Amino acid sequence: MSTVSESALSVLGQPQSRIDGPLKVSGRAVYTSDVDLPDMLYAVPVCATIASGRVTSLEFAAAQSMPGVRMVLHRGNIGRFYRIAGNSIDAGFVDEARPPFEDDVIRYYGQYVAAIVAETFEAASAAVAAVKVGYEKAAHDVSDELALAGEPQVQSERGDAATAYGQGGATLDETYVTPVETHNPIELHATVAHWDGEGYTFYETTQAVCNHQGTLMQMLGLPKEKVRVISRYLGSGFGSKLWMWPHSLLAAAASRHTGQPVKLVVSRKMMFQNVGHRPTTQQRMRLSADSSGKLTSIRHDYVNHAAIADDYEESCGEITPFLYSVPNLRVTSGIVRRNVGSPTSMRGPGAVPGLYALESAMNELARKLDIDPVAFRLMNEPKVDESTGLPFSSRHLVECLKTGAGKFGWAERTPAVGSMTRDGLTLGWGVGACGWPGLRFSAEATVDLRADGTARVVCGTQDIGTGTYTILAQLVAAHTGIPLDRIEVGLGDTMLPPGPVSGGSAATASVIPAVLQAVRAAGEMVLARAAAVGESPFHGESKDALAFSAGRVHRKTDAPEKGVPFAQILQAAQMHSASGKGSAQGGFDDPLKKHYSIYSYGAHFVEVTWQPEIARLRVSRVVTVIDGGRMLNPRAARNQIEGAVVMGVGMALFEHTSYDPQNGAPINSSLADYIIASHADTPSLDVTFLDHPDTVLNELGARGIAEIGLAGVAAAITDAVHHATGVRVRKLPVMIEDLLAA
Ligand code: MOS
Repeated sequence: MSTVSESALSVLGQPQSRIDGPLKVSGRAVYTSDVDLPDMLYAVPVCATIASGRVTSLEFAAAQSMPGVRMVLHRGNIGRFYRIAGNSIDAGFVDEARPPFEDDVIRYYGQYVAAIVAETFEAASAAVAAVKVGYEKAAHDVSDELALAGEPQVQSERGDAATAYGQGGATLDETYVTPVETHNPIELHATVAHWDGEGYTFYETTQAVCNHQGTLMQMLGLPKEKVRVISRYLGSGFGSKLWMWPHSLLAAAASRHTGQPVKLVVSRKMMFQNVGHRPTTQQRMRLSADSSGKLTSIRHDYVNHAAIADDYEESCGEITPFLYSVPNLRVTSGIVRRNVGSPTSMRGPGAVPGLYALESAMNELARKLDIDPVAFRLMNEPKVDESTGLPFSSRHLVECLKTGAGKFGWAERTPAVGSMTRDGLTLGWGVGACGWPGLRFSAEATVDLRADGTARVVCGTQDIGTGTYTILAQLVAAHTGIPLDRIEVGLGDTMLPPGPVSGGSAATASVIPAVLQAVRAAGEMVLARAAAVGESPFHGESKDALAFSAGRVHRKTDAPEKGVPFAQILQAAQMHSASGKGSAQGGFDDPLKKHYSIYSYGAHFVEVTWQPEIARLRVSRVVTVIDGGRMLNPRAARNQIEGAVVMGVGMALFEHTSYDPQNGAPINSSLADYIIASHADTPSLDVTFLDHPDTVLNELGARGIAEIGLAGVAAAITDAVHHATGVRVRKLPVMIEDLLAA
């Protein structure tokens, strides 16, 4: 593996605007719901209005005879779907395993019971309203009080946490609760399914075209070449678009039955019912420390709600075993079933609610010990990953805390509640640390260096909106000197070499080795032709004496300007292009993880302002320092952290999905009633990236940064709220009612 050249880093370290930005702001980027095919029909689902029971009758004769209606899809005519076998990322994974209409049982409010297929969306919607569904109701449970019935699962254990807890010093035993949160990407989920008589093309809002293909192949019972999945642009997903949801199969069935393309766009209301959410979590934290501030034990026992028929576990304990040094630790998990659609991954699954609990507990224990919460964390910095004994590939949490404290002015903090004021406002300051795994998945890529002087790089991953198109172009530019505007990037299509999910903050780290291998192979081919072809100015010279830089082929001993544009070599060789392939391995069982503990780290410092007279709470200022390895595109990276911190403001103060106990419906199922943080809620943001490349993970040293910025924010905010008001909120979000006594 060659090292990274200086010129490569000058391209890679630059803050690039997204190369797909102009297409998006000018409306030329075609998103799934924009896809318009000849003779396209529209499907609209009929959703159950009970949360538990059975469908006893379906009256659709009136709907069927309405103008423009082509068919009513129901249990009796939808045809056969299969269950997936593997539930692995490579072979196909879903969170809701039951195919639509498989039985007549209703397990959650909004579950699909039928679908209308019509010539227009309006005709289909009108017909949906005319369908009458009879039910036999059963008792449902959507309560957020979670009591684990069976034994918890032990996730991590060392020493004897229970005994150590009882041995004096300071202790803390509190339970932290996070609510159901619903992903609200601006782009609604959608499928356009087109059965052409032999196979399918799916335009789909998916964060994983390859996984989507793998899932559909199994559930439809078709070979790979009969299922093409395309996802060119995404209006984000936050995890809700990682895995297939049943609407995709409804569109597939509708297209197969009608022989026409069918578009199905999930409504905002259905987004709260049918395409996942972050489950409610309940986390009991028991921490103890000696009077000097050294942690002596941590117990983290968490449960989350899951659907009736699927086992989603929110891995809240993911970061707990190694964030701090502690000899005695026990982390356990459990699920409690509720009549809700399946929960799924939501930005920073596990770590985000988990670090709300752990970091809140750390702040509370620091206060009991009368030790500054930053100093408390520094005192408990581990030397190795104590859960495995493995060395950290690259860990700079101490520097994150110290740098952040310095930038924030933390030394000025006076710990007494309500003791800090500015301009008549009471100030609260809080801190929270964060961590997220440095993951990489398998990937393949192809690079073509073309005789017209342009390049093309392709990979069957997709751009969720974070800047994946741009990163691929940057990688090719860095190693060839070809300008970004002469590099075409192809993503989001299963016809391309298989690529990773846009998930786990892993896409960039996954594609780096594959793209670099491909671009190097293509470059080598150009050099080989330069040495071999009669019309080349380098004919007869040794290929090893030649170099490819600044878009030119030249002698290693010469400056690039003395050489020729690479296109000239390809033209001389009568080649359309020189093509190189690359592939890289990875996954949750990455062998690298046997040798290193690979994580990103960070710290958030938060200021809130509080006006008790009018009970007005604002997050005014956040300083964040992230240790995420090398940032290949600092502009896109900053965008990720800023967006995540704003989402953290929403998590702390606004977001929660409420289920109506009467009928089990998620009732605040609109953007008017489900409050997310908006521009008006955005504090002053100061993001710093430490520059410690993690070359264990890849030669450029880049780890992922899309999710970590959300972890730890809510703990920092609730600690700041306590500092300002004296009220300790342990059940998110912080409601104004919680503070009225302050
Ligand atoms: Mo992310 S929750 O892995 O899309």
